[in-house]
Amino acid sequence: MFEHFSLAPPDSILGLNAAFEKDPRAQKLNLTVGVFKDDAGQTPILESVQLAQAKIFQQQKTKGYLPIEGGKDFIDQINRLVLGSEFDYGRVATAHTPGGTGALRVGADTLAKVLPAGRFWVSNPTWANHNAVFQAAGFEVLSYRYLNAAKTGLDFAGMLEQLSQQGRPGDVVCLHACCHNPTGIDPTLEQWREISDLLAKKKMLPFVDFAYQGFGDGLQEDAKPISILMRDHSELVICGSLSKNFGLYSERVGALMMISESPRSTDAVLSQIRSSIRCNYSNPPRHGEAIVATILSDAELAPKWRSEVDQMRSRIHSMRNALIQGMEARGKNFGFLADQKGMFSYTGLNPMQADWLMNQKGIYIVGTGRINVAGLTTSSMDRVCDAIAEACAV
Ligand SMILES: Cc1ncc(COP(=O)(O)O)c(C=O)c1O
Repeated sequence: MFEHFSLAPPDSILGLNAAFEKDPRAQKLNLTVGVFKDDAGQTPILESVQLAQAKIFQQQKTKGYLPIEGGKDFIDQINRLVLGSEFDYGRVATAHTPGGTGALRVGADTLAKVLPAGRFWVSNPTWANHNAVFQAAGFEVLSYRYLNAAKTGLDFAGMLEQLSQQGRPGDVVCLHACCHNPTGIDPTLEQWREISDLLAKKKMLPFVDFAYQGFGDGLQEDAKPISILMRDHSELVICGSLSKNFGLYSERVGALMMISESPRSTDAVLSQIRSSIRCNYSNPPRHGEAIVATILSDAELAPKWRSEVDQMRSRIHSMRNALIQGMEARGKNFGFLADQKGMFSYTGLNPMQADWLMNQKGIYIVGTGRINVAGLTTSSMDRVCDAIAEACAV
């Protein structure tokens, strides 16, 4: 039977990563994959995480199964982190999921029960896995305009026009709360108000991917679009990831939050989330959630973690600025990058130039021109700016 399998297409970014691993050049540089790196090019374990682990190893008494939706401590802490302390938590059904990807899939699976043959809108472009995840959950996936023609900013009018003309009541709209992947281009808060208003008028459901809380303007600031949406929408889905802001990529920690109009619906929603999880991976892994819950509930670890998030954000910011200045010094205007947020930036480089950078210089970027700004370091900056300036002439 297995001889009938054909090769599945490789993941485009992970494929580049594999090519990078095989590349023998000492000066090679990987700006493709979305992980934070420090100025030494390492993806460190945060100090707050190391301290929390030490505490867990001393105090943990069991490796028994967790509840299907995860432990209460984790859920309480994550509700507070994402929704703020004023929210009526009786309205939200929250589950710990394996990473943000798990939240997207469990959220979509759960929605599919009330929206059979439903439609999911994603931005064009978006994180490549969105299409696959929502399709796998049974949705028809459509894309709304997002980038302007020069690929340097938001096509806000185009986005609103398309959703307003083609959106239907009951359609689900995936929105990146901050640090849009792959472009780094986010709507302003005023634009968020208009987006929220339009979706409410059209009776479309916001489905918020919140994978980079803290990497844009700050932990609280990055949640502002969610507060705006909550003013106009009594129902909302939020998919959080703790992979990036806790540096827990391989521990697989994320959270699905489904907000209902009234606490009366929450039990039923949670029961449906549980049933989506039960037939999939049954219950979540313990270690990552224990780290997050330990940090957020500890009077010393929580501020330490917050300051580590601030440091990661400020490093990304300073690398983006150094890139802009480095390009300016070489006569190239990359000033449009200044408005972009988070780890990713669309550089405007085309697939041919991306190939050239890889083949000639050992600098790996995604064919769309996306780079991981956090992959740049003080020591590689000049080399990268020289190479991009040369690539612009190709
Ligand atoms: C926009 C977006 N959503 C979700 C995810 C998934 O994150 P996780 O690794 O926590 O599954 C990512 C990861 O790159 C992402 O960029």
